[in-house]
Amino acid sequence: MDHFNERDGVLHAEDVPLTEIAERFGTPCYVYSRATLERHWRAFDRAFRDHPHLICFAVKANSNLAVLNVLARLGSGFDIVSVGELERVLAAGGDPGKVIFSGVGKREDEIRRALEVGIRCFNVESESELIRLDRIAGELGVIAPISLRVNPDVDAQTHPYISTGLRENKFGIDIQSAEAVYVQAAALPNLRITGIDCHIGSQLTDLAPFIDALGRVLALADRLEQAGIAIGHLDLGGGLGIRYRDEHPPEPAAYAAAMSYLLANRPHEIILEPGRAIAGNAGILLTRVDTLKHNDRHHFAILDAAMNDLLRPALYQAKQDVVRVVHETDAEPARYDLVGPICETGDFLGKDRTLALSEGDLLAVRGSGAYGFTMSSNYNSRPRVAEVMVDGDQAYRVRERETVASLFEGESLLP
Ligand code: LLP
Repeated sequence: MDHFNERDGVLHAEDVPLTEIAERFGTPCYVYSRATLERHWRAFDRAFRDHPHLICFAVKANSNLAVLNVLARLGSGFDIVSVGELERVLAAGGDPGKVIFSGVGKREDEIRRALEVGIRCFNVESESELIRLDRIAGELGVIAPISLRVNPDVDAQTHPYISTGLRENKFGIDIQSAEAVYVQAAALPNLRITGIDCHIGSQLTDLAPFIDALGRVLALADRLEQAGIAIGHLDLGGGLGIRYRDEHPPEPAAYAAAMSYLLANRPHEIILEPGRAIAGNAGILLTRVDTLKHNDRHHFAILDAAMNDLLRPALYQAKQDVVRVVHETDAEPARYDLVGPICETGDFLGKDRTLALSEGDLLAVRGSGAYGFTMSSNYNSRPRVAEVMVDGDQAYRVRERETVASLFEGESLLP
């Protein structure tokens, strides 16, 4: 459930009409709902209340400082994949002691900074990274807490670009060889083994792959404990899907219940790294119909937002709901392709959508709070859009719209 609802014929973000936001901040813009973010984070936190746990929001889903700050105030941890994300978490008031560092390629400077601020754990993805981490920790005179990200070879049954737990994917250490790598890690002087990590993919709408992966992780934990390697936490990654249009993903409570069944009597702390399930339906992309164009086969609505603002439809053929902000209209419904002004045929936000449209109408692309702004670019020299957060009856600009001048600020001519 989210807090974007129609009231008196106008779509609202919490208590603020989106028409008012368009007027005040212009379009396109991302609009987030604080109450929805909090509700979704708490749903995870509550679902695991009977088990020691830490919910680490995956910063890649939405890294706006206000979003991170709202979650930090709830006591959230954070899953990061770069020093950029780490600095964002720190700037937003996040606790470095609750930061998990994931990612297949961590540069030396990134590792150094994470060690300096004292993060909670490194999810190590290769033997080479293990050795590098041990060396840098030794140089700094600290002990690096680690878990190995294991690849359980489970089919997440999601889009191939966001499936990560199969042997052919670049992620993690093959679960078959993980035990030997743990033994190697245990012998390195500047590392402390704290857990096992696993993330199998994103937008999963079925629990079976999660259960399958957890079973394999638990079997590994048992083998390690028999070998004298104590495991404190199990990081089960993120990946729980959301409803974009007609999917029926399990709620966090159902996910937790399925996991708890396997975790009964296990002492391990559970770490989760949800991104989309917290932020996805906590945001919309607000856009205006710029031009309507018709030919004998197609109706096109050219919007002021484009693939550079929201890449998911173009990159994954993702289908996100697009709705009118003001219910009432004199226009006749037609089947529209909702496209942007970018010079690519792949530039669309929705295809074949039945909508009644006039030029100037406002539309909301729902489910845009995760992997929306964070994946946006300046392609076609388009400034990135503003971000707005609504809290009750107040709306705040939490990122300014970029200006054209800012696009080439760091560029220079040859002498
Ligand atoms: N942890 C790790 C190690 C990850 O790689 C990811 C996502 C997450 C957690 C969070 O997953 P979530 O709970 O959000 O599913 N751009 C794609 C999604 C890419 C996900 C990459 N990794 C999209 O727009 O669908």
